This record gives sequence, structure tokens and C-alpha cells, in this order.
Amino acid sequence: MASSEWPVRHLLDVDSLSDADLSWLIERSCALASGAPPAELDRTVVNLFFEPSTRTRVSFELAALRLNMRVINVELERSSSTKGESLEDTAATLAAMGVDALVIRHPETGRCHDLAAALARPIHLLNAGDGSGHHPSQALLDLASLASANVKIEGSRVAIVGDVLHSRVARSDITAFLRRGAAEVRLAGPSAWMPDALPQGVLRSPDLSHAVTDANVIVMLRIQHERMGREVWPEAADYHAEWGLRKSHLALAAADCRVLHPGPINRGVEISSGVADGALSLILDQVKMGVFVRMAIMEWLFAADEQLPAG
Ligand code: CP
Repeated sequence: MASSEWPVRHLLDVDSLSDADLSWLIERSCALASGAPPAELDRTVVNLFFEPSTRTRVSFELAALRLNMRVINVELERSSSTKGESLEDTAATLAAMGVDALVIRHPETGRCHDLAAALARPIHLLNAGDGSGHHPSQALLDLASLASANVKIEGSRVAIVGDVLHSRVARSDITAFLRRGAAEVRLAGPSAWMPDALPQGVLRSPDLSHAVTDANVIVMLRIQHERMGREVWPEAADYHAEWGLRKSHLALAAADCRVLHPGPINRGVEISSGVADGALSLILDQVKMGVFVRMAIMEWLFAADEQLPAG
């Protein structure tokens, strides 16, 4: 039987979520953050992180523990992937042991989608970031953090600034903000890090001041050094002077503007400490919401199996 015939839900990207799924995941995340009782899930999840992570890995683990799930972190340097086992065979092996879901972060763009298409046994997949591809749980937590702060996305102006080209967060956020009715998404950053083709509703700003003027939401991005050669790394001070968000920029933004950053932040490079720690920053709110969003995602993921009222 082909994997496409199995009724197994995955979270691979924002694009494949229905409007009802998107709304449910945001509302459920906010409800959990406000103290709604979580589901109890008699399930086992394995974290497979082929790239470093602090926020995503720990929050998926915390989310599973709060749902009374069993969670196992595979140490990849001690796993059989070092002996040449393919991700497909690892997934089949873990599914055969009764593991219900895999949380996967992988440096290769599209790796989770490829795995989903080639699964030999049913197992749920959660894409925790694939190369420059997608980071759906980050986009969901960005939306939920804004909803929790009473920021309305419908009709808003959103600026996404920095290394857009290599950013899976930017790709997922652009889709998420447009799906939720943002009036305009502006991209700004060094021209070498701008995508060639922009989706409908996305504009390119010539500089940081233009991007943030009247913006309701500003998303700052880290330079993805791991996806480019050292010869093209900019000097931190030069980058900060041209593309680093400072308090003076916030005076140009809408009065109710909020600043997001997926983390890890690099102070004095893409963002100043004054902004990162300032009153308009939602950076630690995002981190906190990340746990609730991942709880909601797991409830949603198993809903069809468990008959939960999700999605
Ligand atoms: N935002 C994010 O993905 O952070 P980590 O790399 O720490 O998981």
C-alpha cells in the first residue's frame, strides 16, 4: 500500500493546512496558554534533530510531556544514521517499535516531504525545519503569539527583514500571514538574500526604514551562516548599521507594532538589545507560546486517530 493511502496526518508545511486547521491550531494554542486542560495522549514521539536546536527541540519535548506522552530524543551521533541507515529505514524501524510520531529537523530542503511520500509504515511526521524549506510550527507560534497579544493580522502590514533567501521561517511566515489576511508583506535585506520571485501580496523594500514604516508586525531574521560560504559573511557591525533593527526604527512603525524574531537572536547584528528587550518585543512570548503551539499540534496530529474535536 502506498503511503499516500494511509490516513496518517502530518505537519509538513503551512500551505497544506486548511483554513479550519489554521484557525483551530491558533485558537487551541491560545486556549492552552490561558489554562485550558490539555488532552492526555497515550502516544510515543521521537525527536530526530539532524541540525542544532534549542527552542524547537525543547518545546516539542515539553509539549509531549505536558500531554502525558512518552518522548525520546535520539542522539544522532550515537544512532545508526552514522552507519549509513537512510531516514526512510530509520522511520520504518521506529514505526515497527510502536513509535507514533517523528519530529524531524533536517538540513536538506524538502527532506520531510520526501520522507512522507516514501514511508514504508504509517507514522506521523512533524517538520521541525527542513533546510531553507519550511518551519510550520514556528509560523503557527508567530501567529498565536500575535493573537495572544491582540494583534490583528487581517489588514496588517508585515515587514520581514534579513536573510530571507535562506530562511525557512520567512517562507512559512509569508504563507501564514497572507493566509490570515495581511494586507501587505514587505521583504527587506541584502539583495543577495532576496528571493527572485515574490508571491502575490509580497513587496520588496529598498531599505530597513522603508520596510518598517507604518508596519504592524516586524519579523527580524538571523543570518543563516550555516547555509552560505564564509567568504560571503558580512561584518557584524556593517550589517547592523544597514539592516539591524534599532529603537530609532520603531518610531517609524505603527504605534501598536510588535517585533518578532524566531531566535536564536544575535544582539548587535540583526537586532539591538534595546529592541530585543524592549516593550514592543514579543521574542520571549514567542518562546513561551512555542510549547502551547506544539501541544496543540500534537492534539491535532492525533485527532483523527483519537476522535478529538480538532481541525
Ligand atoms: N526558532 C527556532 O527554530 O529555534 P531553534 O533553532 O533553537 O529550534
